[in-house]
Amino acid sequence: MTVTRSVVLGCGSYLPEQILTNAELATRLDTSDEWIVQRTGIRQRHIAAAGEFTSHLGTKAALAALAHAGVDAQSIDLIILATSTPDNTFPATAVAIQNALGIHHGAAFDLQAVCSGFVFALATADNFLRTGAFKRALVIGAETFSRILDWNDRTTCVLFGDGAGAVVLEARQEAGELADRGVLTTHLRSDGRHKSKLYVDGGPSSTQTVGHLRMEGREVFKHAVGMITDVIVDAFNATGTSAADIDWFVPHQANKRIIDASAHKLHIAPEKVVLTVDRHGNTSAASIPLALCTAVTDGRIETGDLVLLEAMGGGFTWGSALLRW
Ligand code: ACO
Repeated sequence: MTVTRSVVLGCGSYLPEQILTNAELATRLDTSDEWIVQRTGIRQRHIAAAGEFTSHLGTKAALAALAHAGVDAQSIDLIILATSTPDNTFPATAVAIQNALGIHHGAAFDLQAVCSGFVFALATADNFLRTGAFKRALVIGAETFSRILDWNDRTTCVLFGDGAGAVVLEARQEAGELADRGVLTTHLRSDGRHKSKLYVDGGPSSTQTVGHLRMEGREVFKHAVGMITDVIVDAFNATGTSAADIDWFVPHQANKRIIDASAHKLHIAPEKVVLTVDRHGNTSAASIPLALCTAVTDGRIETGDLVLLEAMGGGFTWGSALLRW
């Protein structure tokens, strides 16, 4: 008996031109390259230019993903954009991207799960494709976190960057086995008791301002590894796999120490871990598709590889996805 799977046809990414190094940050703030690298693994991040919006970044990543997949924009009937930094409060930034791509059919909407956004959006698209509601989807993560940072707060502003990544998914019939291509399982969680540990102190309904990112870094760190490993074990159990079966681990790129500790706890070999946090910083919902594209472009991830994704972020929200590329 065959099953419908959401198969990745291609991926694309975009990073703004301007690079901000730790050394440049150290000229404006009481910080140092050494402190940032030691605590986070971050060496530089990209910053969107004035007038460059999340929709612009997302559109460039989407166009690159369509070109890589070799499909026409008109064949896309679902667009889900994971972002916490929309162009406007409404309409959804996904609609601006849809329009920029010249698509006027199907559905486009935003999804907000902060750093877990891409995993949540991938799971949502996968469910729509498997029901037969849509045939071909663009799942995009795009962020301009530089716009919601307090650039005088050294405890947060050194951690984040801007960027976008996207994948094209297509509903295909597969055998219903572990060897199938496509999304094999997804696991999503949230727990609002932690909402004040990582949040933005503004919003349309509360302050009528955009606000700035605030974080209790140690508290986030304390919960991150446990939450990440829990949902990965769920993915292993759902598919009868283990760390030994994974070809590539592509985690949300928040902090090298969190990634290393998670991989170590799960017995995932360091050479299977895709790391981009050093060059991109934490780009929230964009970090996983950016890392995926990096490893596809440099030839590491190949068709048939088993790829494990995970993310954890504000809310808290967290989730995992296991897919065969
Ligand atoms: N440069 C220099 N010193 C700094 C900086 C900085 N940029 N930021 C903080 N410090 C100082 C602090 O003021 C403190 O000084 P004090 O001891 O004199 O009070 C000292 O460094 C230690 O501060 P801590 O907050 O305890 O540092 P910690 O080792 O916890 O590292 C960090 C901070 C990197 C934020 C860490 O807690 C962390 O990575 N947390 C996870 C947060 C995260 O990744 N969030 C991303 C979003 S959520 C997600 O995506 C998973």
